[in-house]
Amino acid sequence: MCGIVGYIGDKKASDVIIKGLKRLEYRGYDSAGIAYQNGELQVKKGKGKVAKLEAMLDPNENATAGIGHTRWATHGEPNDVNSHPHTSTSQKIALVHNGIIENYGSLKKVLQNKGYEFYSETDTEVLAKLIESFLENGENEFKKAVQLALAQVEGTYGLAIIHADHPDIIIAARKGSPLLIGVGKNEMLVASDASAVAEYTDQVVYLEDGELAVIERDNYNVESSDSTSLIKEVHELAMSLDEIEKGGYPYFMLKEIFEQPKAIADCLRGRIDPEKGTVTLGGIADVMEKLAGAKRLVIAACGTSWHSGIVGEYLFESLVKIPVEVEYASELRYKEPLIGEGDVMIVISQSGETADTLAALRQAKENGALVLGVVNVVGSSIARETDAGVYIHAGPEIGVASTKAFTAQVTVLTLIAIMLAQYKKSISDEKAKKLISELALIPEKMQQVLDKSENLREVSNLFSYAPNFLYLGRSVSFPVALEGALKLKEISYIHAEGYPAAEMKHGPIALIDDMMPVVVIAGTNHTNDKMVSNIEEVRARKGRIIAIVTEGNAEVEDLSEFSFSVPDTEDELSPLLTVIPLQILSYNIAVNRGCDVDQPRNLAKSVTVE
Ligand code: M6R
Repeated sequence: MCGIVGYIGDKKASDVIIKGLKRLEYRGYDSAGIAYQNGELQVKKGKGKVAKLEAMLDPNENATAGIGHTRWATHGEPNDVNSHPHTSTSQKIALVHNGIIENYGSLKKVLQNKGYEFYSETDTEVLAKLIESFLENGENEFKKAVQLALAQVEGTYGLAIIHADHPDIIIAARKGSPLLIGVGKNEMLVASDASAVAEYTDQVVYLEDGELAVIERDNYNVESSDSTSLIKEVHELAMSLDEIEKGGYPYFMLKEIFEQPKAIADCLRGRIDPEKGTVTLGGIADVMEKLAGAKRLVIAACGTSWHSGIVGEYLFESLVKIPVEVEYASELRYKEPLIGEGDVMIVISQSGETADTLAALRQAKENGALVLGVVNVVGSSIARETDAGVYIHAGPEIGVASTKAFTAQVTVLTLIAIMLAQYKKSISDEKAKKLISELALIPEKMQQVLDKSENLREVSNLFSYAPNFLYLGRSVSFPVALEGALKLKEISYIHAEGYPAAEMKHGPIALIDDMMPVVVIAGTNHTNDKMVSNIEEVRARKGRIIAIVTEGNAEVEDLSEFSFSVPDTEDELSPLLTVIPLQILSYNIAVNRGCDVDQPRNLAKSVTVE
């Protein structure tokens, strides 16, 4: 949530920062700002996207150090004043902030009593003034003043701070909000996300909670919260520029939908042997015994990752025969969960930075549970804090609406379930082999779905008017219904609900009339007959059926106003195919409605605040 970029080096800082902010814009895009050192501090900021900020910049300035921010509003509406950077009263300190200063109200009162005036409604402005108050109190050293201010702060922050009298340094600090240093040659960057630095360096240092860094153009020094100087590991970034550019697609979301065959092939590479019928996941090999001995599994995640968790629940219960609970991470953390030794938690997160998911994992670890991660972003907080885990290797996902991460998460959960089931001998070798050889075919079958995705154009045009949609699925298709509904509402702003098909009778059926599109996801499994009855119930009330079916399901096709078929596969794997037409349907409808597909209103890609 919110993006931070800072630069100090030989290049024109504003060029690097603007480019970086554009790459981070998916993290928040309601306002943007920049501060740079040009003899004195210059601050430009305002409501709107980074392109608008770029137009405000003086083309003749040549500052080589500065900080920038793209905002997702928490405190105070998106407007010019609330935009970051925020400055101190003397205008000598400028800072950008991700996170929430929870005690900003009381800090503000204390500062107001000392005569400080505030102009914004943000929590962040307090910090700029608080740091200055320590400098005025005689704590002359800039770093010391930052440390004293941070010691008073309750809440979370990723921060980049500059001071007019210290033009050769940027101070960065992290607590609960991701931050990394990009280590270049005669230049350093600081950013909330690696995509902002990837163009300049592949060497990065991840800051941990409580750490503070003083960054110069050719050096950086990281300290722990007790001011001990730390030797930090330098990681190599495996991120190519192609991966973070649109590559000819109008939107990242569309690019990422079409990348799914490759994403799943990458995710499976080296992990399955269809000939032998084996799965090898190095990331969890050492914890297999503990995993196999678990009393139950608790899966914690948010949004789309929560939906893949529900697919996981079906897989683990049917293949591994272990009880599974799937929890919203945001709920789990506040209900004093009965989770402890003997339990295994699997946290699922594309970004690896979702605040609620991180908090759930910390709580489970504290209670003694083994915590595994299913994460996309290598080196992210969740990836680093889990006991073990499996990366999904989907490549950077930039569109706010998650697509390839969902299918790659489901793939990894399937792999874990098969590996564990084989370890516990809860499935036959034959079944395992069948699942593994079908998994190997999924990239090809995904491509077949994508190749005929134009067939979804007509139905997308027909239903772009609809104010409401209902999505129905049974068994493993129920989470696909949830995911289809989430995709539609988040990018096209159409109200949509996903339901287990039979639940419809217990309420939602009242909504059905001849205006209501009802998307059904129907495989050819044991629930098909029941699904047929549910479709009849909708038809009897003149609801309009759009069916996503497995090839050969003529019965459902005949009952539908529109149908789209996906290749047959094992039932457990069907979400990997049935979700794709739903992604494309929502994409087409959003484009038809003139929505900004990659940056839907009010959303941000990674939710690093509670
Ligand atoms: O990065 P995470 O997977 O932890 O993110 C979880 C949700 O915020 C995310 O899936 C969100 O729901 C997406 N916008 C859905 O498309």
